[in-house]
Amino acid sequence: MNTILVTGGAGFIGSNFVKYYLNKYPSDTLINLDDLTYAGNLENLKDIENNANYHFIKGSICDKELLRKIFKTEIKTTLEAPNLVAHFAAESHVDRSIKDSSPFIQTNVVGTQILLDTVREFWSTTSKKRNCFLHVSTDEVYGSLGKTGLFTENNQIKPNSPYSASKASSDLLVRAYYKTFNLPVITTRCSNNYGPYQFPEKLIPLIINNIINKKPLPIYGQGLNIRDWLFVLDHCAALDTAIKQGKFGEVYNIGGNNEWTNIDIVKLICKIMDEKLGNKTSSTQLINYVTDRPGHDLRYAIDATKIKNELGWEPEHTFEKGIVATIDWYLENQVWLQEVTSGEYQKYYNKHYL
Ligand code: NAD
Ligand code: DAU
Repeated sequence: MNTILVTGGAGFIGSNFVKYYLNKYPSDTLINLDDLTYAGNLENLKDIENNANYHFIKGSICDKELLRKIFKTEIKTTLEAPNLVAHFAAESHVDRSIKDSSPFIQTNVVGTQILLDTVREFWSTTSKKRNCFLHVSTDEVYGSLGKTGLFTENNQIKPNSPYSASKASSDLLVRAYYKTFNLPVITTRCSNNYGPYQFPEKLIPLIINNIINKKPLPIYGQGLNIRDWLFVLDHCAALDTAIKQGKFGEVYNIGGNNEWTNIDIVKLICKIMDEKLGNKTSSTQLINYVTDRPGHDLRYAIDATKIKNELGWEPEHTFEKGIVATIDWYLENQVWLQEVTSGEYQKYYNKHYL
């Protein structure tokens, strides 16, 4: 039985992963360390908050003493020290990194270094259980593609935004800890995720939320930038495969082979939502072309052959079904949308955890 430390487990992908993992491994223990920034929300985890094998700790990956306490089993003496770490915690939004890169450097770079050092202090090479530090990274570290070609794991790292530069820095630290200290690390680089619980600052939930509220749909530049979309639960399955079966020191790309221009995806969401809401006028009338994102990467597209051939992972959800399920989830969870955008959910945290 494993004890897995998940960092950032109250965010979008992290909360999906926590629920996926506890459902798949009901005998394992999962510790979720999250600092509950604007992007972390305990509502996301309400379904499992009473699961006896789930333990939430409010705190930052930059807090060295807190991390040491977790590994020294001083937080709850009944908990064993983690033998697995799935590291999601990060500042994740490109536009915010353009406005202020400081928290990105602090959490994504310094926080990762502090976490790596803690793990290095406590994991021994004679451990009977598998030790693995899974670093959840992004295809954005590769920079931008032109109209053709795919990112492979051998592509050069060429980040273009402060966010992707901070993630690339953390990838390099993870690599260095493998080479220098033989730490059992694995890095995954995934394309754009979509699905339930994504904070509505990211393209897909932002567009859904704005259509619900009949607000303008901002399209950067001409809307011709391309992203490769993957349903979040397919990402979770790939991460589970990597942490359990992946080879230490390796990088695995994860992607859905599902490229869309931004404008096409926005028009698709308009069409599906207009049918569902019975709108008489098309929501495409809300489309508003706005000033482009500085340094906007033209195209991301993943070659996921390595993880398919070596670990047997492939996406299971089709985009056609995944996008409809995602839209349905946001339509059914409008209270969640209101709470995360207003900060209301923090009252829930105060009530339960302070
Ligand atoms: P998110 O912004 O939704 O969640 C981030 C979580 O980290 C939040 O719960 C937040 O409270 C927590 N956090 C932030 N700073 C922290 C700190 N110092 N200590 C502890 N917790 C902290 O992000 P996401 O979209 O779920 O992304 C999760 C990870 O996956 C990130 O590392 C991101 O780079 C990576 N990733 C995301 C995507 C995507 O499409 N969203 C794709 C590939 C990789
Ligand atoms: O590729 C993986 C990355 O995907 C992750 O590492 C990041 O954490 C995640 O945020 C995401 O980054 P993007 O910048 O690709 O995602 P975002 O949803 O912000 O934007 C998607 C595309 O839509 C991008 O080309 C910019 C465009 N866009 C975005 C917003 C928010 C718009 O045109 N209008 C918008 O309002």
